[in-house]
Amino acid sequence: MVCSCSKLARHISIVALAAFLLLSAGGAAMAQAPQSVFAPAGPVAETQLKLLSLTLYIAIGIFVVVGSILLYTVFRFRARPGDPIPKQIHGNTTLELIWTVIPLAILVVIAVPTVRDAFGLAQPPTDDVLEVRVVGHQWWWSFEYPELGIITANELRIPVGQVVRLTMESEDVIHSFWVPRLAGKMDVIPNRVNAMWLTADEPGIYYGQCAEFCGTSHANMRFRVVALPQAEFDRWVQGRLSADEREPANDLIARGQAIFESTGTCFACHTVDGTSAAGTVGPNLSDFGSRSTLAAGLLPNTPENLRAWLRNPQEVKPGALMPRLPLSDDDIEALVAFLHSLK
Ligand code: CUA
Repeated sequence: MVCSCSKLARHISIVALAAFLLLSAGGAAMAQAPQSVFAPAGPVAETQLKLLSLTLYIAIGIFVVVGSILLYTVFRFRARPGDPIPKQIHGNTTLELIWTVIPLAILVVIAVPTVRDAFGLAQPPTDDVLEVRVVGHQWWWSFEYPELGIITANELRIPVGQVVRLTMESEDVIHSFWVPRLAGKMDVIPNRVNAMWLTADEPGIYYGQCAEFCGTSHANMRFRVVALPQAEFDRWVQGRLSADEREPANDLIARGQAIFESTGTCFACHTVDGTSAAGTVGPNLSDFGSRSTLAAGLLPNTPENLRAWLRNPQEVKPGALMPRLPLSDDDIEALVAFLHSLK
């Protein structure tokens, strides 16, 4: 009996130590990762991390206190041969009060800031907001700036320090919008409009992804939030607004545009401002050449990857709704040139 108790205690302490080391190593590694909630880059994520930290520290405290008492008890009060039955304390009012009041106090300490922040983050802190309509699709994201008259996809450009209000809808099934370094998740639900806001404190690229299983390519439904200095953002907006004056820079690009606009190809599903292509089934490609990725954040936007995508979308992204088009290698070269000229 003596032997099995100390063995148990040893096992408990080894498991606790291993869990602690694993958690610390994991925590340190996670803080470096591009999608870490432990590296907040805006006020919303910072507020949420403070709440998470409070809960986490309280939980660690409880773990240490309860674990220590357990270990001490297991050693100190272990049964020895010939011991009588210990004193029974069933129905001890003092004990009952203590273990009711302490958890109650802990819950209050967690609940007060939780409720405060839940309501505090529900509304943007100012009226000076950039409005963006987010629409989730299987398996990509559409970003519309209603006040600017711009629509883009999979790369949400915002000015640094600007409060951005997102109103969020879904075209098909439930998705979840998550940019861990800027804000917590928000579900994107058919026939319902959800809203949230975020701000990026520093210029940079913040990785996001769909966080709700939504079908074959759920894991490939990624996106980026690109936070730009105000002047750079304004330049992008100006570029987008002057798209109607776009002229093909060379013959290859002109041929690519002609293929893009011909019957039964790209134009049926995609929009490119300044051309006859005005489809809305697939992503708006008007600034495709300035995007860093293709296929919803799946691959770097290189000519090679774009060729592979045009040859057979499903091979690159399982389940992709874009059909495989009967394009020759020459057609694909021309389309790549045209698409990469769209900035
Ligand atoms: Cu959209 Cu998962």
